[in-house]
Amino acid sequence: MGNRGMEDLIPLINKLQDAFSSIGQSCNLDLPQIAVVGGQSAGKSSVLENFVGRLYSPDFLPRGSGIVTRRPLILQLFIVKESCLILAVTPANTDLANSDALKIAKEVDPQGLRTIGVITKLDLMDEGTDARDILENKLLPLRRGYIGVVNRSQKDIDGKKDIRAALAAERKFFLSHPAYRHIAERMGTPHLQKTLNQQLTNHIRDTLPGLRSKLQSQMLSLEKEVEEYKNFRPDDPTRKTKALLQFV
Ligand code: GDP
Ligand code: NA
Ligand code: MG
Repeated sequence: MGNRGMEDLIPLINKLQDAFSSIGQSCNLDLPQIAVVGGQSAGKSSVLENFVGRLYSPDFLPRGSGIVTRRPLILQLFIVKESCLILAVTPANTDLANSDALKIAKEVDPQGLRTIGVITKLDLMDEGTDARDILENKLLPLRRGYIGVVNRSQKDIDGKKDIRAALAAERKFFLSHPAYRHIAERMGTPHLQKTLNQQLTNHIRDTLPGLRSKLQSQMLSLEKEVEEYKNFRPDDPTRKTKALLQFV
């Protein structure tokens, strides 16, 4: 695969899936799921809504990946597979130590191998306070760290602010905030998307060689079968019975 990026990889996967379905097979890549956890009103739906436009565009995720098919996307915790990535959504204007999201994540992923902390509502923090320590992964560190986002507020939604405008406002928020400016490139919805893309790319990259050898061995056995029928003559009495039986 080399350094093939997501942009090349996803159309490739979609082509593979099309090729498989044209011969009535499915391309089993066992794509990872993404579980979004967090307390009520933490911003789970908002985080996902920011992706939706892209999630349903054919080039963002391969068809059949968990996050596309499992609408409304928020998975129940125990169907959680080993490869499932956990987005632990916690609002910045609440006490992080009591985060429902981090508690749940810790239960299912005690070592924090597949948990990404997502801090929402950074724009709603009290004047003079910020989440710099959390976002720099110094307070309650996670292996994969935290990504801060600013979603649309209820007022934005009522005022029909579209997602494009919301993303622009989010970017401006991080770039202009003195506590976040230095980490702005690692913050926001686009960075979260990029991180999820990377995860998926790695998974596909790891899965493709296995799929390839499985296909090669299927191909070999088909070729062997074809070879067997090469000399087949319908009037050959010794082979006729066998062939008929095999076609039944
Ligand atoms: P859920 O219950 O976890 O799915 O939370 P929602 O996504 O429904 O969000 C609950 C409320 O918080 C909604 O009114 C959102 O508009 C608002 N909200 C979510 N994230 C943010 C944010 O980053 N900033 C602001 N100002 N409001 C947010
Ligand atoms: Na929470
Ligand atoms: Mg919701």
